[in-house]
Amino acid sequence: MPTTDRADLRSLRNAFVRPGPDDAVELRAFTHGLMPKRVPDMLQRFAEDWSQRGVDAWNAVPNHWQPDTPQPDDVGWWTLPMFLGDAFIAPLLGAPHGTCVMQPHVHWTMQCLLSAPEVIGRGSEVVLVDSAFPSVRHSVHRWQALNGLEPSVATRPESGHVAVERVIDRMGAHTAMVVLSHVGFTTGQRIPDRALRAVADAAHANDALFVIDGYHSACTFPIDVAALGADVYMGGLLKEGCGSSGNGFVYLREGLDLTPRLTGWFGNAEPFAFHDTPSPHPDVRRRFLGGTTAVASLYHAVEGVRLLLDAGLDTVHAHTQRLSQIVVDRAGEAPFSMRSPRHADERSALLVLEVPDAYQLCEYLKTRRIYTDSRKNRFIRMAPFVWNTAPEVHHALDVLTDAIESKAYRSFTPEPGGPVT
Ligand SMILES: Cc1ncc(COP(=O)(O)O)c(C=O)c1O
Repeated sequence: MPTTDRADLRSLRNAFVRPGPDDAVELRAFTHGLMPKRVPDMLQRFAEDWSQRGVDAWNAVPNHWQPDTPQPDDVGWWTLPMFLGDAFIAPLLGAPHGTCVMQPHVHWTMQCLLSAPEVIGRGSEVVLVDSAFPSVRHSVHRWQALNGLEPSVATRPESGHVAVERVIDRMGAHTAMVVLSHVGFTTGQRIPDRALRAVADAAHANDALFVIDGYHSACTFPIDVAALGADVYMGGLLKEGCGSSGNGFVYLREGLDLTPRLTGWFGNAEPFAFHDTPSPHPDVRRRFLGGTTAVASLYHAVEGVRLLLDAGLDTVHAHTQRLSQIVVDRAGEAPFSMRSPRHADERSALLVLEVPDAYQLCEYLKTRRIYTDSRKNRFIRMAPFVWNTAPEVHHALDVLTDAIESKAYRSFTPEPGGPVT
């Protein structure tokens, strides 16, 4: 690794608050990223803008998000979702100016899509896979009674990895929309760009929209939404984006004219005219706004994104790949196996390992200050990320291996926890 890369990574690592003590290994970037050190300052800025400007903050606030650039004239609470979309989300996705907007969460974006006549009119089915996140899958099921679109669900082979051919096989003239995760939350499988492009081409040949859920991909490697053929690319900054909750986003391809019925007065063409009937805002992305925007979370939304973009998404990707390769290499001899794909171009930061009694093991690891999570009492998930180092990953795997081999964790009774595992 060149020395400058190492120095950049060290300063990136130090830009986050790492919970102590020093030997703690935080591997849960895939569920809630660490807090960037600048966040308390940004929350203070919100309090100052509110207390000093009051209502006028809706029109204008200082550009806290880009302190080193000249003040643009479009930074105020009213326009913040579009401003942050242009300044921070577009560079993450390789998207043009004017195509990205902040959203409360993926769930909301899905409701907007499923309520748009331009989606409903394209066919009678939504193609998705059985491992789609509930914000996608449940939404399609729930809307079926209202919009008539049936879910057409591609099942996965025994490996648990999405087979793109099965998704393409389900498409036809009846397909209205296809939704796929760029990186799956149950396996960490990254669908390679060429495979996503094949899905996009098949969708477009059937006049269907191609929607990518990029929750675990945005912020972990560079993305080019146009090359992928995405009509819509949605996600959030809670996880690897280190922006905490309330900070989703969506990219809408230029020229994609959607009029979600689940829109609000913030998506109206003339919100302060208070006309009797609504008319959609000419800027399509604004139609994905609802009622009054929750602005407080937008203050800390992009502090992680800024750090990752400054370091370079190529650097971030190379580092996480180096760390995840350690896990893949050791899985050959260790008492755990990889649920995630082993090939570098089919995995991202998130890794899923198959282990015995995963829940108890994960809780035991916490007592040894190794932080992962467990699913279905069968899998442990971890995402070595920018604040982790190779010695940390080796240490975590040593403790994990030792716990399984010695069966030490089997006699351990976890404290009753909350609903979040
Ligand atoms: C693939 C994927 N999509 C979406 C979400 C979150 O959805 P929402 O923003 O609706 O909470 C997650 C959260 O874990 C996820 O893993």
